[in-house]
Amino acid sequence: MKILITGGAGYIGSHTCVELLNAGHELVVLDNLSNSKHAAIHRIRELAAGPLEFVKGDIRDTSLVSNLLSQQCQAVIHFAGLKAVGESTQIPADYYETNVSGTLSLARAMDATGVKTIVFSSSATVYGDPSTVPITEDFPLSATNPYGWSKLMVEQILSDLAQADPKLSVTLLRYFNPVGAHPSGRIGEDPNGIPNNLMPYISQVAIGKLPELSVFGNDYPTRDGTGIRDYIHVVDLSLGHLAALNAHHDQAGRYVYNLGTGHGVSVLEMRNAFAKASEREIPYRFAPRRPGDIAACWADPSLANGALNWRAERGLLDMVSDAWKWQSMNPQGYPD
Ligand code: NAD
Ligand code: UD1
Repeated sequence: MKILITGGAGYIGSHTCVELLNAGHELVVLDNLSNSKHAAIHRIRELAAGPLEFVKGDIRDTSLVSNLLSQQCQAVIHFAGLKAVGESTQIPADYYETNVSGTLSLARAMDATGVKTIVFSSSATVYGDPSTVPITEDFPLSATNPYGWSKLMVEQILSDLAQADPKLSVTLLRYFNPVGAHPSGRIGEDPNGIPNNLMPYISQVAIGKLPELSVFGNDYPTRDGTGIRDYIHVVDLSLGHLAALNAHHDQAGRYVYNLGTGHGVSVLEMRNAFAKASEREIPYRFAPRRPGDIAACWADPSLANGALNWRAERGLLDMVSDAWKWQSMNPQGYPD
């Protein structure tokens, strides 16, 4: 099937492109390269044979998107968006413009061209501060920052569209914490500037680009006092998109799934696993809690396990080994 991949040059999109090509799909990647590099497209092509057309452009350009969709696309996987929580509080209008207006533009283009299947990148951030763990899909939803609100708004918009159009298939995938890289070490996460998230930060300490890890909080009510998250290998996450497409392409309705492993890992456990796999020192010190952080968050992925016939199979060792392989083979990230 021919699929439009928005944001396909980015971290999760690039890994998903490889798995989709390996499964025999034909891809059109639309990305404005605002947070990615063209080199990622070359690397995808190197890792997987098969037809991939790359178009540099913006999802807010409805006529461009319509034009691409009208070339026999049958489905959309929608990764494109802005994703940094802290930045979203500084420039909220940009976040709503890209994430919310961008999705509306895409929805208009789908309507104009009769494309009826969309898979959307949502986030566990929509659960806010959950009262208990593990989290199931029917937990209350909330947001505390513009990024989180933008994800909730898009979930609502796509749900309303599915309600209004009896032929539309909308799948909302709520990712927990994506980490790791393709086992080849050729594609991976390439953050701009100093990373916000734990895994890229640890990787850059291990390679010597950053001096030490600040562990945000050691007084949480967790087994070692540090925050616990459900880290999921990006290849498992990518395969979740394939499973969602297989299950729901052209099956009208609105579907929502947690994509996680169902297991929590603490900051110190992650740091220790990475130090072991990389055989590098990862100095750290305890720092105050980061505002907005929660103590513990992990998924109940049983809905996706059953309905999508999918489960995360790669463990912590695979996550840290593959992240280290990517970091050590590409110390400066992708070439310009
Ligand atoms: P990413 O920044 O690596 O990829 C997003 C891609 O979208 C980038 O290549 C960027 O250039 C592109 N893009 C941004 N604005 C665009 C626009 N207006 N038009 C066209 N392309 C545009 O991010 P990622 O980590 O791969 O995340 C992909 C999606 O998953 C995002 O929607 C993100 O919010 C969501 N998500 C990510 C995480 C995570 O931890 N990485 C967790 C939950 C949800
Ligand atoms: C962050 C986002 C969340 C998004 C998710 C995607 C925030 C507040 N939340 O979640 O909206 O959906 O990424 O993966 O940014 N940590 C340190 N030191 C660091 C970095 C992180 O101790 O330098 C700790 C954090 O306190 C947390 C854990 O590591 O306990 C994971 O942090 P991070 O990778 O930023 O992810 P989340 O905060 O879960």
